[in-house]
Amino acid sequence: MDTYGIIGWPVSHSLSPAMHNAAFKALGIKAVYGLLPLHPSKLKEGIEGIRVLNIKGVSVTVPHKENVMAFLDEVDNIAREIGAVNTIINQEGKLFGVNTDWIGAKKAIEQKINLSGKKAVVIGAGGAARAVVYALVKGGAQVLIFNRTYEKAQKLASELGGEPFPLSQIKNATGDVLVQTTSVGLNEDQSPVPKEILSRFKVVMDIVYKPLETRLLREAKEAGCEVIDGLEMLVYQGVEQFFLWKNIRPSAELMRKAALEELSGEKNGR
Ligand code: ATR
Repeated sequence: MDTYGIIGWPVSHSLSPAMHNAAFKALGIKAVYGLLPLHPSKLKEGIEGIRVLNIKGVSVTVPHKENVMAFLDEVDNIAREIGAVNTIINQEGKLFGVNTDWIGAKKAIEQKINLSGKKAVVIGAGGAARAVVYALVKGGAQVLIFNRTYEKAQKLASELGGEPFPLSQIKNATGDVLVQTTSVGLNEDQSPVPKEILSRFKVVMDIVYKPLETRLLREAKEAGCEVIDGLEMLVYQGVEQFFLWKNIRPSAELMRKAALEELSGEKNGR
């Protein structure tokens, strides 16, 4: 029975155990995936713990995605470029760091639109935006990055590609795809995008999944856009993570169902 888990602080609300355990069960793999709450001040010891306890694979979430790199044996080039590791693979005690967030973003968007030659607008320039911008650039899209703090958009654009703008100019934005990567809308009825501009876009994606239908997605639907909710990127990064550990891709639909059940359980106080 192999052990897997997620390190983060806090991690109690993570949907990853539900998704990965559902996949293990469906594929008849005897393994268990659990929560591994790890305080930032204990990151080094926690990573050593992965080796000592022979935990075969680990998901990495906030606030460890950047700092964890220093304690791994190897970090792949893409993860280094994005500046974040969300997946650790334990190969006989050697720990490899990889990023599947960008693949998750790319697959989620490509369910709805082929990115090649398209114009994509990204809201935000934080950690999540980096994976999204990388995915869009890799997919062949022209990328415009709008952020409240213009300097952060500039830095992201110079490192990964795209053109920076202050968020105050969002009312002039046009494009095929719009991706919202900030925490605006998380547990609140707010949107960083004026609804008047939404009808200019074919596809609108939000990475916030609490609530599943954010104000942005509700207004995008009303404007006639196709929408991609925040669970999609999460599910597809999980599919890729599982693939790196077990060399098989579980059904995205199955993982999404498990995540949805966990979310609704949370809502009902479980
Ligand atoms: P994450 O890793 O989740 O992306 P982060 O790195 O802290 O988190 O980035 C948060 C992003 O959300 C940033 O782009 C931030 O804008 P600033 O760079 O100006 O701080 C954006 N953000 C957070 N709250 C916001 C708000 N109320 N309005 C607009 N942007 C906001």
